[in-house]
Amino acid sequence: MLQRNIKFPQVPGPIGVFDSGFGGLTVLRQIRELMPQYDYLYLGDNARAPYGTRSFEIVYKFTLQAVRYLFQIGCHLVILGCNTASAKALRSIQQNDLPQMDPERRVLGVIRPTAECVGLITKTRHVGIMATPGTIRSCTYDMEIAKLYPDIIVTGEACPMWVPLVENFEFNSPGADYFVEKSINRLLERDKEIDSIILGCTHYPLLQKKILRYTPQNVQLIFQGEYVAHSLQDYLFRHPEMKSRLTEGGTVRYLTTDQPEQFNQSANIFMGQPIQATRIMLE
Ligand code: DGL
Repeated sequence: MLQRNIKFPQVPGPIGVFDSGFGGLTVLRQIRELMPQYDYLYLGDNARAPYGTRSFEIVYKFTLQAVRYLFQIGCHLVILGCNTASAKALRSIQQNDLPQMDPERRVLGVIRPTAECVGLITKTRHVGIMATPGTIRSCTYDMEIAKLYPDIIVTGEACPMWVPLVENFEFNSPGADYFVEKSINRLLERDKEIDSIILGCTHYPLLQKKILRYTPQNVQLIFQGEYVAHSLQDYLFRHPEMKSRLTEGGTVRYLTTDQPEQFNQSANIFMGQPIQATRIMLE
């Protein structure tokens, strides 16, 4: 049972970015490009990744543990840089846990900002979503898009092999070609009018080369990092009270629940620079 009413540090702190593993680094990278002035704290729950095939209860429990940890070490704002966690845990955390833990702190996800942009991109009003089985099964994208653009027809395709390909460094291998082509073809077969595909998993930018290779030119690919970064910038503009609780030293620290050496090697590839992570335990 998680503890309630914990007192968290009140002094300003970094922006927390959380993912089950390395995927959230693609979001962190875009956020930092746009807002390098803030301090960031990245947490990857690598020891328990992937989340994509886990149940609602487990993803919620793990995500809440991560959010609580980031609050305890000084974050006032946490971005779930993970579609699976955003789909399965965000709403419960926002509605049930934040009011008890600390109503002044905020947790934001990646699905809403991605859904917001799609209505401005699609012309045929037929949109495809490629994501983990958990995100697709949750129908969160379908619901968010329906609220904003009820005329858009959404077709979701679960890609259970894509995250393991990335986590196992197979994203440039011939094996990746097979799985990427297969999933894209299957989606486009199911709705031939799709003109835009949301890549609804933060690991997928690593498969970009392969995804581009098998996507017809008339189909627009939506990589979400840029939209999430702009949405956060807009949020901070509209919420000066949160902005004043963020430190601006331009630093990034990395935390992982697994071996730091392994994390450093992989994170290096995601971020394109040397990374030194610290190991922590979530419970
Ligand atoms: N990167 C995460 C996402 O965006 C999920 C990866 C996983 O399955 O853990 O959905």
